[in-house]
Amino acid sequence: MPFQLSLLHLSALAILVFSSALFSQGKSAVAPAVCASHDLPNPLAELFPNNATGVLNATLAIIPIPLDMARRLIPPQYGILERAYRALLPDFPEAMYPVLVQAAHDHDVQFRAYGITIDDFSRVGFEFPFLDLLGDGYSSFRWAPAQLISATNSIALEGSRAYGTVVSPAEYEPLCDAYQVLASGATYFKGSSLESSEFFEVEMAPVHHPVFNPYPLELFKNITNQPTFANATTCDNMIRLFNTSMTTGEHAPVAVHGRVKANTFPFGKAAREWTGVYGVQVATPFIENNYLDCQTMQGYAGTGGPGDSYTSTTTSDDL
Ligand SMILES: *[C@@H]1O[C@H](CO)[C@@H](O)[C@H](O)[C@H]1NC(C)=O
Ligand SMILES: *[C@@H]1O[C@H](CO)[C@@H](O)[C@H](O)[C@H]1NC(C)=O
Ligand SMILES: *[C@@H]1O[C@H](CO)[C@@H](O)[C@H](O)[C@H]1NC(C)=O
Ligand SMILES: *[C@@H]1O[C@H](CO)[C@@H](O)[C@H](O)[C@H]1NC(C)=O
Ligand SMILES: *[C@@H]1O[C@H](CO)[C@@H](O)[C@H](O)[C@H]1NC(C)=O
Repeated sequence: MPFQLSLLHLSALAILVFSSALFSQGKSAVAPAVCASHDLPNPLAELFPNNATGVLNATLAIIPIPLDMARRLIPPQYGILERAYRALLPDFPEAMYPVLVQAAHDHDVQFRAYGITIDDFSRVGFEFPFLDLLGDGYSSFRWAPAQLISATNSIALEGSRAYGTVVSPAEYEPLCDAYQVLASGATYFKGSSLESSEFFEVEMAPVHHPVFNPYPLELFKNITNQPTFANATTCDNMIRLFNTSMTTGEHAPVAVHGRVKANTFPFGKAAREWTGVYGVQVATPFIENNYLDCQTMQGYAGTGGPGDSYTSTTTSDDL
């Protein structure tokens, strides 16, 4: 308990330090966004006043890449838990690895008991799930090495950098929402760095024949609940709930397919485009526990249980 209490104080302190850094600048380089979001309000702030809570309205999609390419992109010390993703995706193509695209709008983030609210922001990046950060052969972690984050939100920029994430301040289309709907009925989202030529563009249309959607919602729930790390100094435990009214009924997740075009890390600097990408648009409330000791997340429910254990080194680790 004293340990958890000090972690709480640490992350609250971190947020306060970031806030005062923001205020002490006197002026912010970028004017705050002046538009309202369509996102539903955060339903968890009242239930978990002593935790950071918020809403993530997101496009989540999978880009299958060859395992040997994944092995080159992911730092060599982190094994790839192929058995863990095959347990969820038995028909995933041989010798391939699922990269997650996460293009999201963070909305109504609060730390209610401290009276802290954080301006909305957008963020996007490639994320690499099912990684054996601890070398135990079963606990799945997600490597999120780089993000484009709304330049208007210093707290989000610094909060992500504190994980060792390569963060680029960016501007977004649309400015205050998870995506905009085009005349064609497709949705559009684009983040563009203000400091480099980096960009990340996502255009998706609803899948009308769900039978063609290769990825169950359970996969996205599983991946987005894996603890995240960047340089592995600390881990982020974001608990995303898929069973609230925000994710059911009229707000039920929508299966989508489309294209992703980007030139961000860890793929090369030349823009690449992937077509025929499948995913889902879903909004989930979350509770976030920041800057945790990664080791304490071993065997955590979101990471997979010892039942997924490997008895020997996996072949994918040897690629
Ligand atoms: C809320 O924060 C406390 C203190 O950091 C932590 O012990 C607790 O697990 C968090 N609650 C949830 C639901 O994650
Ligand atoms: C998510 O964002 C889209 C686009 O702005 C919006 O239409 C939808 O209502 C949002 N979903 C929720 C549950 O907030
Ligand atoms: C990870 O990043 C944080 C924040 O920049 C930094 O304090 C820490 O020293 C880095 N750790 C490693 C192992 O690079
Ligand atoms: C909703 O899901 C969370 C974890 O994903 C679980 O802890 C909680 O019990 C669930 N609530 C209901 C009402 O099923
Ligand atoms: C995620 O999937 C693994 C199997 O790969 C399973 O062991 C684990 O319990 C799942 N976690 C959640 C939160 O569904």
